[in-house]
Amino acid sequence: MGIIIKNGTIVTAKDIYKGDIRIDGETITAIGESLPAEPEDQTIDAQGKYVFPGGIDVHTHFELPFMGTVSADSFETGSRAAIAGGTTTFVDFVIPEKGKPLGTALDAWRKKADGHAVADYGFHMAITEYTDSVAAEIPTIIKEGITSFKCFLAYKGLFQVDDGQLIAVLENAGKHGGMVSIHAENGDIISTLTQRYQAEGKLTPEYHWRAHPAIAEAEAVERGLTLARFADQPLYIVHLSSADGLERIKQAVARGDKVLAETCPQYLLLSSDLYCLPDFEGAKWVMSPPLRPADHLEKMWEGIAKGYIQTVATDHCPFNFRGQKEMGRDDFTKIPNGIASAGDRFNLLYTYGVGEGRISINRFVDVVATAPAKIFGMYPQKGSIVVGGDADLVIFDPEATGEISVKTQQHNVDYSAYEGFKLKGLPQTVLLRGRFAVRDGVYVGEQGHGRFIARSASGVSA
Ligand code: URP
Ligand code: ZN
Ligand code: ZN
Repeated sequence: MGIIIKNGTIVTAKDIYKGDIRIDGETITAIGESLPAEPEDQTIDAQGKYVFPGGIDVHTHFELPFMGTVSADSFETGSRAAIAGGTTTFVDFVIPEKGKPLGTALDAWRKKADGHAVADYGFHMAITEYTDSVAAEIPTIIKEGITSFKCFLAYKGLFQVDDGQLIAVLENAGKHGGMVSIHAENGDIISTLTQRYQAEGKLTPEYHWRAHPAIAEAEAVERGLTLARFADQPLYIVHLSSADGLERIKQAVARGDKVLAETCPQYLLLSSDLYCLPDFEGAKWVMSPPLRPADHLEKMWEGIAKGYIQTVATDHCPFNFRGQKEMGRDDFTKIPNGIASAGDRFNLLYTYGVGEGRISINRFVDVVATAPAKIFGMYPQKGSIVVGGDADLVIFDPEATGEISVKTQQHNVDYSAYEGFKLKGLPQTVLLRGRFAVRDGVYVGEQGHGRFIARSASGVSA
């Protein structure tokens, strides 16, 4: 028994056309016009709907121990929210404790995800210090399908690596087919400003933002790119937040650097005025990098439209306002950094990107699904609609409307960073490897159906 999706408008990163899709088991087995159905096949009428490849969010932090607490979504609740919102695959960051083997951290992350995730998943490996034993483990980690690494140029004293360490990771990972990404903020600028504000008794959430100026991002982007050029390796910039950082990327592209950039919905739709809300409310949006002034937002959209930014992920890292964000009521440095949006990304990008004419529908598919799959070694199994590919599909109703609210979200957190945002266009049905996760708007996913994806080397080479 197969599934036939009939009369949908199939949208890929390149094409848009009317057609039918046949699924047998986990795989797309035919695409064409008027595909015949066997009597035992299930037929889904997709007339008037778009059929998109399942979304891929390459930046999540489920159950992350961080800043004295743990992010509020488990692999089950976080991936449930993601898939309900059209994202069928995610890539989470393994963040090892200093002095502990990478393999130990990977085992811990596998234990949290395996048998729990409802969407397919892979992992990136963070390198928080570079020692001889870490160096020796990198090739093994790559062989296990963890083909991308993150170095933090921020979080001084916690995760931050210095230039020598970044060079070593770039060279070592690159030699074995891995790709390196950076959290591009200058941790020393942040630490200098933070200490200054603390000494002056400026401790409200607003000073988190003030301690993370855009120049800190621009400097780290530039330095990361310089070191990547020195090491003759590509570089992926995670969660790019500012027009200043984007300018550095444009200059790098002009001189021929191999640079890839990711941004997140928060840097397209939310602005730093939120930090100045009274009664500690601004803590809800404390994240690193922080939100930027409103004049950055359209420039970031333009960066996507013009191809300087290749992917839109979430950096999903939620903390409850009550009991978690509140840890920093008297001192912004104790507010755990991050927000939830794994369930919102796909729909926000469609409504505010395609719906408001900022990006084309093909560009939408590219940044939410296809480019992430290509860059992170999952293409064409994921991120595409091709015969032989996984049947990860979103049947999307462009006329459906909704509104984001803590009352209806699937995230396991007590507020929404996007409360009240209107949506036009919503997933009606979501399939993961041929199995329904959402059917006619109702979540029907299954705990543990998500599968670990051992990723190949990046589709981007030096
Ligand atoms: O605020 C954030 N981004 N929290 C998660 C950790 C990171 O830097 O990605
Ligand atoms: Zn980061
Ligand atoms: Zn992150």
